Amino acid sequence: MSTPIRVVVHGALGRVGKEVVNATCKDPELELVGAVDAKADGNTLPLPVGSGTVPLSRDPSSILKQTEPGVIVDFSVTEASMAMVRLAAKQKVNLVIGTTGFSTEDLEEIDRLAKANGVGAVVASNFALGAVLMIHLAKIAAKYFDNVEIIELHHDQKLDAPSGTAVSTARAISEARGKPFVHPKVQKETVAGARGAELQGVALHSVRLPGLMAHQEVIFGISGQTLIIRHDTINRECYMPGVVMAVKKVVELKGLTIGLDRLLGLQ
Ligand SMILES: NC(=O)c1ccc[n+]([C@@H]2O[C@H](COP(=O)([O-])OP(=O)(O)OC[C@H]3O[C@@H](n4cnc5c(N)ncnc54)[C@H](O)[C@@H]3O)[C@@H](O)[C@H]2O)c1
Repeated sequence: MSTPIRVVVHGALGRVGKEVVNATCKDPELELVGAVDAKADGNTLPLPVGSGTVPLSRDPSSILKQTEPGVIVDFSVTEASMAMVRLAAKQKVNLVIGTTGFSTEDLEEIDRLAKANGVGAVVASNFALGAVLMIHLAKIAAKYFDNVEIIELHHDQKLDAPSGTAVSTARAISEARGKPFVHPKVQKETVAGARGAELQGVALHSVRLPGLMAHQEVIFGISGQTLIIRHDTINRECYMPGVVMAVKKVVELKGLTIGLDRLLGLQ
């Protein structure tokens, strides 16, 4: 077996970071060698299976120097991510970034730094394989249906509506169709908002309830039939197959790759 890929997790004490720590420890092709988090109050992170610890620090440069990773997985905050990119690329460390909120300029800088230093960087706003496939399948269906509505359902703590995934889906299927969908208006909306929001002819409905995690249905309709593509996640482990795949692929890449669909060969 080849040598495991040495991984440092940035944002390791966060909700997704903890899952990345667990997933890295479970995969025999990966080796967790260090962790960085602004909340670190000790200098070691206990590993989930009780098989020791790895160095933990608030200071990314000391961890990189100490552990010499092949890949950094980043689920932190945008500003911290960019600081990590600048540091890591110069030290020839590949990057898998799940943190959201980058500007176009940030993405251009990541690409420039990665190319200049001969490393790969994967930035994906959704590492859930099922969500990526849902959008891909909906793009295929989009050409054959005139009407579509999206229902996204999330936990009641979610700050925004509609979800970023619902908006990305609506944009992707409109682009795939090449013209707006038909959005039937009702003559009288007796309760305001009953028909949801509208984006490029796609009706968007947001449900917020305790007990939900993240779910979405894309419902296509044409005479006499409907087609429903549905994706459900039940916990943050849903991102891990995508993250692990990206870690294994990024070491063969140079420059920036945006989105998991490219890694999956869907584009
Ligand atoms: N791409 C995806 O599939 C996906 C999925 C879920 C969340 N996200 C994104 O991932 C990011 C993290 O999400 P989360 O739910 O785990 O958040 P979180 O708040 O639970 O975790 C973020 C962690 O980053 C740490 N952090 C903050 N500032 C830091 C700094 N300057 N240096 C080092 N560490 C720092 C925090 O202490 C915290 O432990 C967010 O941007 C979120 O939108 C992406």
